[in-house]
Amino acid sequence: MSAELNILPLSEERINKVKKLSKTSHDNVMDFKTVLPWDNGVDKSLYPKQPDHLWIYGTPYCDALTDEQRLELAWLETARDISMFIWLEQTIPVLYMGYITQYGDQLNKETTEYLMIFSKEEIVHTMTFKRFMKIANLDMWHPPVGLYDLLTKTLPKMSPPVGILFTLLIEWVAELGAMHTSQKDNIEPMTRQLFKAHHFDEARHIAFGRWISEAFIENAPAEQVAQVRAMSKEIIPKLINMFTYNPEIPRHTSFDFPIASDDQEKINEIWNSENNQRINSERFTEFYSWIDKLGLR
Ligand SMILES: [Fe+2]
Ligand SMILES: [Fe+2]
Repeated sequence: MSAELNILPLSEERINKVKKLSKTSHDNVMDFKTVLPWDNGVDKSLYPKQPDHLWIYGTPYCDALTDEQRLELAWLETARDISMFIWLEQTIPVLYMGYITQYGDQLNKETTEYLMIFSKEEIVHTMTFKRFMKIANLDMWHPPVGLYDLLTKTLPKMSPPVGILFTLLIEWVAELGAMHTSQKDNIEPMTRQLFKAHHFDEARHIAFGRWISEAFIENAPAEQVAQVRAMSKEIIPKLINMFTYNPEIPRHTSFDFPIASDDQEKINEIWNSENNQRINSERFTEFYSWIDKLGLR
């Protein structure tokens, strides 16, 4: 296939790297049945995330809560993180398999294979996350405002590298958030293992997304790149805010939550709290430097 016809062009060197990603995936398949010691159950007396990473930590709203209420918030915030993964990741196989059915003759075989693996892995992740939610007795949150439509309606109509780029941005932020808060010894063991097991596959998804995105920004016509940059400048701040504090939380708490879901002034205060700024600068350092390099914000 000539380079002009290829819808996801990659250099020879990167095609070889994609082959390695596929090999690693085939050698390390996440198995739904054995990936977690399901029978151990989830210990909800332990924190599933760092206590000082609560969305309202460091504010008077948090100081006024009891220890039980703070622990409840930690589990609700984790339920939100997992719900987000479920909503987002179950859209990816539809999007990526759509590329194969629509542009099959414009894709090289290495990329086609990896799109299939990527899709398959997201299906297993989604089922694993759902099982964890059930065992931990956690309720799903609503689909993330704006992002769900982006993935299910907007991106399928755009070109594949653009869909892969925006999928990457969302997945990468979600993945950095989950890992940054869940891997220390004080964390509930099943939760820690869940995010760790997921991370192995995600690290490859992120690498693939970066290569496709970098090749697009380097080679696509200037007006297409400008369109993508305009979109990402609008989406990235919303994405970061959504991860920092989700205003849906009062709907889930067993107690009266101090910030109403439509109190925009207080919501802004939490999005910009000192503690949240600190957490975001720690967990998103690599992400920010990559998007800056590509001029995406
Ligand atoms: Fe995933
Ligand atoms: Fe992924």
